[in-house]
Amino acid sequence: MSVITKTDLKLPFLHRGKVRDTYEFDGNLLIVSTDRVSAFDSVFAEGIPKKGAVLNQLSAFWFKKTKSIIENHFITDAMPEHLKAMQGRAMIVKRAKLIPMEAVVRGYLTGSGWKEYKEKGTLAGIKLPAGLKNGSKLPEPQFTPSTKAESGHDINISVEEAEKMFGKEAADFVKKSAISLYKFAHDYLLTKGLVLADTKFEFGYVGSKIILIDEAITPDSSRYWLKEQYDKGILESMDKQFLRNYLESSGWNKEPPAPALPEEIIEKTSERYKAAYKMITGEEVK
Ligand SMILES: Nc1ncnc2c1ncn2[C@@H]1O[C@H](COP(=O)(O)OP(=O)(O)OP(=O)(O)O)[C@@H](O)[C@H]1O
Ligand SMILES: [Mg+2]
Repeated sequence: MSVITKTDLKLPFLHRGKVRDTYEFDGNLLIVSTDRVSAFDSVFAEGIPKKGAVLNQLSAFWFKKTKSIIENHFITDAMPEHLKAMQGRAMIVKRAKLIPMEAVVRGYLTGSGWKEYKEKGTLAGIKLPAGLKNGSKLPEPQFTPSTKAESGHDINISVEEAEKMFGKEAADFVKKSAISLYKFAHDYLLTKGLVLADTKFEFGYVGSKIILIDEAITPDSSRYWLKEQYDKGILESMDKQFLRNYLESSGWNKEPPAPALPEEIIEKTSERYKAAYKMITGEEVK
């Protein structure tokens, strides 16, 4: 499968996100995961080999595994004859009315959560025990939602604000589902040698029912660390953090335009995505 950073399929085009291209397909959606990579809200010109395949096939893996926890949008990842070139990197899903909330669940303190804790001793405004470190396991997985901004940065909101924006019943259901999904995936991944630090879900309405949509527990939407290293106190990321770390050290001011990525960083990022896939599913990505 060659690197693809942009698609131009003969289908009604709907949306080009940072990573995925969405088309209308027989009343449903066709979501293509390209090999684009974004970090700090910029999309890079270079593609990451196999990244789209990893995102698509891992999402399919999790959608099948978690459907008894909550219904999701997955219909099939078998492409019809005229779309065979997309096989492995695309899926057909139910079209939902997006709830514009990033349903983040954190089981460990790191990233922006760690930053808030260092400054205020809280996570999403909730007081935490003293003495926690970067990477510490939280007493309980915590739901820390943010709004899904049309452009620019997402804004953190409290659970109360989420209830006001989306209705109490919907916000409660999303919170409960997101935490259950996180716990299930966390426990499963521990048996595969990975620590799921945090992850983000999106939900939407099909009729009056709320279902899980978008991607699920991928290295783009999650942080996972190697357990063997974690147990020695080292946070070794098998996800996009590797690229973020490189960018932090590169001197880029994080303002567009995005800089060119060195070949070595592209390769190593690709290796991590593929290795994560193999660890989680036991198979090579196709
Ligand atoms: N079943 C679904 N029904 C409707 N929209 C969906 C569904 N699944 C995913 N989406 C939307 O498809 C898009 C996937 O593209 P991608 O993740 O690349 O976008 P993004 O960079 O997050 O962009 P955006 O800022 O527009 O969300 C997202 O906007 C996501 O909310
Ligand atoms: Mg997205």
